[in-house]
Amino acid sequence: MKIDIDNIRAETPGVQQVKHFNNAGSSLVPQAVSQAVIDYLREEELYGGYEVEAKYQSQLEDTYVQTAKLINAQPGEIAYMESATAAWGAAFYAIPFKAGDIVLTGLSEYASNYIPFLQLKKRLGLEIRIIPDDSYGQISLDHLKNMITDRVKLIAITHIPTNGGLVNPAREIGEIANNAGIWYLLDACQSLGQYPVDVKKIGCQILSATGRKFLRAPRGSGFLYVDDNILSQLEPEQLDMHGATWTTTDGYEMRRDARRFELWESSYALKMGFRAAVIYTLELGIENIWERVQSLGQMFRERLMEVEKVELHDKGKEKCGIVTFSVKEQDGSHIKRELAKHQINVSISPANSTLLDMQERKLPELVRASVHYYNTEQEIGIFVEKLSEIVRG
Ligand SMILES: Cc1ncc(COP(=O)(O)O)c(C=O)c1O
Repeated sequence: MKIDIDNIRAETPGVQQVKHFNNAGSSLVPQAVSQAVIDYLREEELYGGYEVEAKYQSQLEDTYVQTAKLINAQPGEIAYMESATAAWGAAFYAIPFKAGDIVLTGLSEYASNYIPFLQLKKRLGLEIRIIPDDSYGQISLDHLKNMITDRVKLIAITHIPTNGGLVNPAREIGEIANNAGIWYLLDACQSLGQYPVDVKKIGCQILSATGRKFLRAPRGSGFLYVDDNILSQLEPEQLDMHGATWTTTDGYEMRRDARRFELWESSYALKMGFRAAVIYTLELGIENIWERVQSLGQMFRERLMEVEKVELHDKGKEKCGIVTFSVKEQDGSHIKRELAKHQINVSISPANSTLLDMQERKLPELVRASVHYYNTEQEIGIFVEKLSEIVRG
């Protein structure tokens, strides 16, 4: 099945308002997704939160089934979370690190992951080692192999970094990690929803993702995957009466599934919206989505290359829908502001969201224009035309 763009755009009211090139920030949600949230909230308003939860128990449970299907996991390996950072942190801080353990990561690692590395370095003596890039700008597999030692406790990689087209070779990294018996944590925040992600093929034990980006779910949703085989070795930093049961005066028992990482309270309306977004993605087919995103991304880059003063900055062998560029002698916020006058949305990737990579490439910031499958060739044409006018001044 190929994607029916007209139909999808008819189901996406936002495309009438804006030309949305900020899918790496937060996508336009399909109507089915916002409707699921609104309908649920309306019922809470009329009948009460606990009562509506009971009524929708099976749909709420189905969120885990659908999410598991999306990444080829088991429902018990999924925890529903409010963001990718909450998911990533819940798992990371549960890993039983000790002084001198090493974490291997990449140059393009995201700030909200790197700061926790630094925190455990300060608190515990965790050692952070950076895997250099290869000639394409992706994680170098040869270097990674040479960096494996007995002290490496974790390989933590961002699949698709926030600041560019790069797709890291997640599967090959998984092979190296699994051969060495080292845990592998994959930040799939920017890949879920645009790129096929299969945890079995990748071989990661932990994966975190957000809802609002390429999955087109509401803001404030995300999830964590934890391989059942390592779950018993992970005790969350924060446990409550949902993640564990208070069994005796001084004893408790943790849940046996990944939901030990959840807290009792969360937004059920958003969970219903998240589920609707996952189902929407599954119905379109992630392979179809990826094919379209990739071809739009390629076309976009080719067109941007023709614009005077524009410099593209995407790295990697295989490139995704996140397109980054700068304009000579003009700062990114000016470009963003001027594009917004034509209802064109982009975002800015500041240096400190991926500090190591941006410092290495001496980039103060990047304009990030990210396509999704519902963008059109015509929108790309308008983008390029307006950008050319802005650049000419
Ligand atoms: C690579 C990457 N990881 C993690 C995050 C954090 O996601 P969230 O804001 O849902 O916590 C982002 C957000 O931009 C990201 O790009």
